[in-house]
Amino acid sequence: MSDAILTVGNANVFYGDSQILFGMSFSVHKGQVMALLGRNGAGKSTTFKAIAGLAPPRNGAITVSGQQLRGRAPYTIARLGIGYVPEDRQVFPDHTVQDNLMIGAKRGTDRRMQWTLDRIYEVFPLLATMKTRRAGLLSGGEQQLLTIARTLMGNPDVLMLDEPSEGLAPIIVQSIGKLIVTLKELGVTILLAEQNMHFCLGVASHVTIVDRGRAVYHGTIEQLRANQDISQRYLAL
Ligand SMILES: Nc1ncnc2c1ncn2[C@@H]1O[C@H](COP(=O)(O)OP(=O)(O)O)[C@@H](O)[C@H]1O
Ligand SMILES: [Mg+2]
Repeated sequence: MSDAILTVGNANVFYGDSQILFGMSFSVHKGQVMALLGRNGAGKSTTFKAIAGLAPPRNGAITVSGQQLRGRAPYTIARLGIGYVPEDRQVFPDHTVQDNLMIGAKRGTDRRMQWTLDRIYEVFPLLATMKTRRAGLLSGGEQQLLTIARTLMGNPDVLMLDEPSEGLAPIIVQSIGKLIVTLKELGVTILLAEQNMHFCLGVASHVTIVDRGRAVYHGTIEQLRANQDISQRYLAL
């Protein structure tokens, strides 16, 4: 098996005195779409914040391409190849769609520039029709697409999407799902947080089930599909 791009090893995260993650561990390999699947409050967003440097673990190891992330500042972690789309998707409302994309532009860790404006507009044709529109005027779904596109403009090694379909209309959820599949086909490595098992089954290649701050199951999406017990035990369906 190829080396992992991202590893989280035995991470304990606290908010004040309360422990939220208990020895959280999993790894993501190049080209995988790894879903962190779990109920509301399970610790998915906290795991993302731990990786991104916003909720640093007290101990344990987090590495990207072999480089230690624990203890580094969020902007350094972004430079080391982590592209993070948080739950509360944020655009710069007074800037145009194209300016929002340009704000996210940077070279990747190996100076790579796979994602350019042209490439983004090919993969996100809807955004191409709105280049000059103020981002604040976009719908929630369009803003979600823009946030994902802006993060890709940073040419990350791993794209982290925290519940990208949350609160969006079913038709938009479908198009976000299609987008993730397209990105997977392009070889983008993705870490996805989700509560919705059916959404995961459609887009992910691998799954880690998170329950009460712990990783309680690791498998491929096919293994999950064949294991109804697991989903009934840990997920609200
Ligand atoms: N800033 C915070 N301070 C204290 N507790 C928090 C904070 N953020 C989240 N929590 C708690 O941490 C647990 C995990 O939350 P979270 O990681 O957001 O779960 P998920 O993303 O899986 O819904 C929950 O019990 C939540 O109430
Ligand atoms: Mg969350």
